[in-house]
Amino acid sequence: MSLAREIRLARMPGDRVSADDFVMAETPLPALQDGDVRVRNMWMSVDPYMRLPLTGRKGVRPGLSVGDPMFGAAVGVVEESRAPAMPAGALVLSQKGWRDRFVAPASDLQALPVSDISPSWYLGVLGLSGMTAYPGVEEVLRPVAGETLFVSAAAGAVGSLACQLARRRGVRVLGSAGSDDKVAWLKDELGLDGAVNYRRQDVGAFLKAECPNGLDCYFDNVGGATLDAALGAMRPGGRIGLCGAISQYNDDNYRAGPADFFTIIEKGLVVTGFNAGLAAPRGPEIAAALIGLLQSGELRWKETVVEGLENAPAAFASLFEGENVGKLIVRI
Ligand SMILES: NC(=O)c1ccc[n+]([C@@H]2O[C@H](COP(=O)([O-])OP(=O)(O)OC[C@H]3O[C@@H](n4cnc5c(N)ncnc54)[C@H](OP(=O)(O)O)[C@@H]3O)[C@@H](O)[C@H]2O)c1
Repeated sequence: MSLAREIRLARMPGDRVSADDFVMAETPLPALQDGDVRVRNMWMSVDPYMRLPLTGRKGVRPGLSVGDPMFGAAVGVVEESRAPAMPAGALVLSQKGWRDRFVAPASDLQALPVSDISPSWYLGVLGLSGMTAYPGVEEVLRPVAGETLFVSAAAGAVGSLACQLARRRGVRVLGSAGSDDKVAWLKDELGLDGAVNYRRQDVGAFLKAECPNGLDCYFDNVGGATLDAALGAMRPGGRIGLCGAISQYNDDNYRAGPADFFTIIEKGLVVTGFNAGLAAPRGPEIAAALIGLLQSGELRWKETVVEGLENAPAAFASLFEGENVGKLIVRI
């Protein structure tokens, strides 16, 4: 019988995710039934949201228990097929990451087009990251020339796209990140007008110095203290797009809101939450727009690649230490 390797939850993470919270296991691969395919994964995604089912709190995603296999997006190639529409050799996108091979009904998988686009991009700019950054900037915040937009986790997957999309609109873009190297990358490579290392500098003081008349827009990827700092710096009537709150994900109370909630009332702020699921019906249209921008060179896409399924747990943990620039993916 043929075996697959998969990563399982070994224990619930504490206040810091660690590679030791996971364990590699072998699992038998079932024989193919009519309509099934066997897939060898090539790339898998590690994403901040994967931390949420590993907390004690209920959310929209079901929680995981110790012993459960991890899940998430992956791109692989069909090795064997009993589904005529998805023959051997086809590239497929699945939610069967964190394992090297699997058997599934072809109807559960999405066939990817054959093109010169790296298949891994379907885990980032043409996947979750793009389906969040694009609507966040182009549909929710819609910043215009003359306005200033601040992006947190600006050197990450979503953040780096949001910064570039806003710059295209002629907007003044500021960002925050957790190292001086990232701050330099944001200014030198992505052309940001200003950036702050939130680990060493006071974000509120930075924003007030950069925007003495108040910040127009904030694209929030981190929540917590940075969201509070941005609230303090917003101009009356300013817009905030809530994308994520990674600074809170290691806390069982990750669903808590900002400490300075009342500022939203005082300043009449427009605060809009959004997510990739809401954008899904427009996925093909958004992907086409992003592909156009990537091909014209108006958008640059950066990946940090970790090699080996066995290193996926450490890669996942490193997201919360800020070790990635751009999208963190694992090559299996
Ligand atoms: N709503 C949606 O559908 C959706 C979809 C995708 C992502 N998101 C959210 O968007 C955010 C970014 O996701 P991503 O996939 O693009 O990941 P990412 O930004 O590529 O990686 C996570 C980054 O977050 C920063 N970070 C980690 N811990 C932090 C903390 N305690 N305080 C401040 N920053 C911290 C780190 O960068 P630094 O060096 O800057 O610390 C790290 O590199 C996350 O909150 C995620 O949940 C939401």
